[in-house]
Amino acid sequence: MAQADIGLYGLGTMGSALALNLADHGFTVAVTNRESSWISNFVDESGPLADLLIPANTLRDIVDSLAPPRTILFMIPSGAPMDAMIKQITPLLANGDTIIDGGNADFRATRARTKALAKSGLHFVGMGVSGGEEGARNGPSMMIGGSLESWSRFKPMAEAIAAKYKGDPCVAHVGTDGAGHFVKTVHNGIEYADMQMIAEVYGILRDGRGWNAHEIGVLLEGWNTGPLQSYLVEISARALQTTDPETGHPMVDVIMDKAGQKGTGRWTVIEALKLGQSASSIEAAIAARSWSSEKKARYAAETLLTKDPQPSEPPSESDLEQALLAGRIVSHAQGFRILQAASDEYNWALDLSRIAEIWRAGCIIRSSLLDDFSVALHGTMPFGHMILTPAMREFLVRSIGPLRRVVAAAVCRGIPVPSLSGALCWHDSLCRARGSTNLIQAQRDLFGAHGFERLDADGKHHGKWS
Ligand code: 6PG
Repeated sequence: MAQADIGLYGLGTMGSALALNLADHGFTVAVTNRESSWISNFVDESGPLADLLIPANTLRDIVDSLAPPRTILFMIPSGAPMDAMIKQITPLLANGDTIIDGGNADFRATRARTKALAKSGLHFVGMGVSGGEEGARNGPSMMIGGSLESWSRFKPMAEAIAAKYKGDPCVAHVGTDGAGHFVKTVHNGIEYADMQMIAEVYGILRDGRGWNAHEIGVLLEGWNTGPLQSYLVEISARALQTTDPETGHPMVDVIMDKAGQKGTGRWTVIEALKLGQSASSIEAAIAARSWSSEKKARYAAETLLTKDPQPSEPPSESDLEQALLAGRIVSHAQGFRILQAASDEYNWALDLSRIAEIWRAGCIIRSSLLDDFSVALHGTMPFGHMILTPAMREFLVRSIGPLRRVVAAAVCRGIPVPSLSGALCWHDSLCRARGSTNLIQAQRDLFGAHGFERLDADGKHHGKWS
């Protein structure tokens, strides 16, 4: 009794929103959930879409409601729960069927699962989904990894439900096995950096200029009509202008300054380091969340240690706007550099320009700059660096000075700007032909005879250290 186009397991926030989105586009979805009581409630509350939602009480029911080759999407927590589901459903599936993992999974686990399931003739798709609940319901950005065969079957559904940028669906098959989850991981790393840099600018305006939350929100709202236009600036402006109904204070003023993380941003940095890359702006954003958790230590240190602030001019609004722009360019450049390195390592042949395109709508880091990035990434990138393309150099020539002034002013005043300064240091390291690691090489050779290259001769050399 095959009647559904796709099966969906996991009716949490994201799963139920995706099921409704699929139904909205005319697809019949067989839905199921670990807690079976959710299934009928979900279908009952779906109004006219209920006709396209088939309640399935067991995995066997969901499999039976699909014609082979089947596609079943799992929207459940990554890790052990996914392994448990794979174990349960695999004996019920047949050659050519596809399991999609739409969670924020570690791409290494996705690679391992792909390999293991291929032995049974099954396809495993790691799908990065961005956009939160609203995106899942009305149009997410999706980054798909896996075989082309499974993609060809899922593509019509994915393109229908994806966010559209000027009509272009924000979904792509980015590569095989773990490529989709890797691209989503890097997306989240960039997301962490962008959020952190906006928060750093907020900190400068609050603690360096004495502005209140509402004033900062209005400024950000204005920036959102210019080159900084983005979802994250937009929601930051909204958050800053929201009042807590209980106290009448700005909402952000009653929120504890401790931020958690589920780990995807951290994976970006771990993988970047393994690939010999630097993600300074992203790493700083992760570290900032970690330090933020040490609230008690920070209370104590504020009085135990002295900041000894130095005189400096407070940064202007226009410098702050440009600094944020430069920081955003660098954090994306770092993200794309990591993607390129991973693509080379895992033979994914990632199309960086297409990845920028599918991030232009639906996802959390969507911004007007992504269109510029997609163009910059389309051509040849000198030495593999996006910031060396003519378009990016044009942006940076205007914004690097402001970033430098903003970081300098914040540093002098003792206001932490780890992500903005990480971005600046990376930029400065890249554009210094003669750096200082010659001394590192001397140190390594002196204590460990590691050898070094000379400027004036080929080959490996050792120093005659006194
Ligand atoms: C998205 C988000 C989404 C989520 C992450 C990050 O693209 O829609 O990245 O996947 O917000 O869970 O959350 P943490 O900040 O808790 O790591």
